[in-house]
Amino acid sequence: MKMIIVKDDLEGAKLGLKIIKESLEKDALKTIGLATGSTPVSLYNLLRESDLDFSNTVSVNLDEYVGLSGDHPQSYRYFMETHLFEAKPFKKSYVPNGIADDLNKECADYEKIIEENPVNLQVLGIGANGHIGFNEPGASFDSVTRVVDLVPETIEANSRFFKSIHEVPKKAISMGIKTILKSDKIVIFAYGTNKASAIKKMLENDITEEVPATILKKHSDVTVIVDEDAATLLNQ
Ligand code: F6R
Repeated sequence: MKMIIVKDDLEGAKLGLKIIKESLEKDALKTIGLATGSTPVSLYNLLRESDLDFSNTVSVNLDEYVGLSGDHPQSYRYFMETHLFEAKPFKKSYVPNGIADDLNKECADYEKIIEENPVNLQVLGIGANGHIGFNEPGASFDSVTRVVDLVPETIEANSRFFKSIHEVPKKAISMGIKTILKSDKIVIFAYGTNKASAIKKMLENDITEEVPATILKKHSDVTVIVDEDAATLLNQ
């Protein structure tokens, strides 16, 4: 894993932009995997303002809440439309449909979409509990896209976006860990002291399903971009 410590999320976003730009210029960005949440917002701001052209790139998002339609302001489809896609259209943008009648079929179809559009570069955030996508502690490293239960810690963390914690969906569709690991390249970002423990565990613990992000050590091309706050607990 390549580790880069930056001053703040703007510096992290600039590095992310550079990596994406280089992939585009090499014509090596047929498909990009995207994340939602607070972490990638600075990157999406820079992408929106950039002159990069994604009209030949497909995007696939990591996850979506079950029960929220794409026009719900807290859905991840809505997040992506407003933070990126409206200003920067992609060739095609896939986000799982959280209100599909048959959620298991939706998951199988999504996995097929990723098989047909292998991800060249996956953007990741990390949960304070070490989750990637919505693969919570204990998720199998062999997992593929499926419906998952969010753990109380994640529901609590994400309640900041909702009027009340009771409105936070308890389930989501998430790419699996096996699915994420198929990406040619992975860039994982983490900012703030609340991510410091997860970053320490990811980098310094043995690989364990109890800390899903530890599996990234097995991938041959991972760049970890963290700010000074998220790096505070690391052994130097
Ligand atoms: C989002 C996702 C999650 C987040 C993680 C961190 O699509 O898959 O794994 O990346 O929960 O969220 P933030 O960035 O809001 O701290």
